[in-house]
Amino acid sequence: MTTLESGRPRVDADPGVYTPQQDTWMLCDAVAASGAAHGARVLDMCTGSGAVAIAAARAGAREVVAFDLSPRAVECASRNAAAAGFDVDVRLGSFIEALTVPPFDVLLCNPPYVPSPDTPAGTGLERAWNAGTDGRFVLDPLCENAHRLLNPGGVLLVVQSDCADPARTLTLLSESGFAARVVAAQRHRFGPVMASRAPYLAAEGHIAPGADTEKFVVIEAHLTSSNAGTQ
Ligand SMILES: C[S@@+](CC[C@H](N)C(=O)[O-])C[C@H]1O[C@@H](n2cnc3c(N)ncnc32)[C@H](O)[C@@H]1O
Repeated sequence: MTTLESGRPRVDADPGVYTPQQDTWMLCDAVAASGAAHGARVLDMCTGSGAVAIAAARAGAREVVAFDLSPRAVECASRNAAAAGFDVDVRLGSFIEALTVPPFDVLLCNPPYVPSPDTPAGTGLERAWNAGTDGRFVLDPLCENAHRLLNPGGVLLVVQSDCADPARTLTLLSESGFAARVVAAQRHRFGPVMASRAPYLAAEGHIAPGADTEKFVVIEAHLTSSNAGTQ
């Protein structure tokens, strides 16, 4: 059963679907705080359980479309949205598919961002966090496509860890016509994935040796009409 408490949807995550956690809640809180979703057409990329999409609907979105490359996530998010009483159009796919629909006013994304030794493949649960050697397997395409997915004046809200170079996110967005800044930051102890991968992450320079916390940031970026679509 899906219920809502303050701005954070409580959702069921099926086996094989990412269970909402700190990054999810930071993004949901940012959606509520920004007010950007009110009356807007919203795209939630990498929707998982649908928690962020439901938060956008709850924040007054006119329309919410959500994408995930996992069939399990699509089914789970659809069910959670219906149980919460919201009409969310959940679709299987990623950026290529999202680019075939008209641009949105708001783009939300909690992508995978944990550096991983191998190139991510398949649609299993590990795709929820594995993001290639620099942690940017989805973050870079997000930054590259955001200005094409949004109307002029549109707003992107994305959450990520400091182990996947938030400064690069800010730079890429700025280069494609956004005014971007960090609007929320929280430090949390490593979860199971980061803890088990800490030796690899330290060896590759993504975290300091012995580190057991990471900082999450939410980046809010506004697409300015003057230079939108120049790249
Ligand atoms: C960190 S989880 C976030 C789930 C949910 N939005 C949340 O905040 O709890 C990332 C999700 O992205 C999906 N995913 C990974 N790569 C993707 C891609 N290229 N396009 C669309 N979805 C992707 C995964 O299947 C997973 O459901």
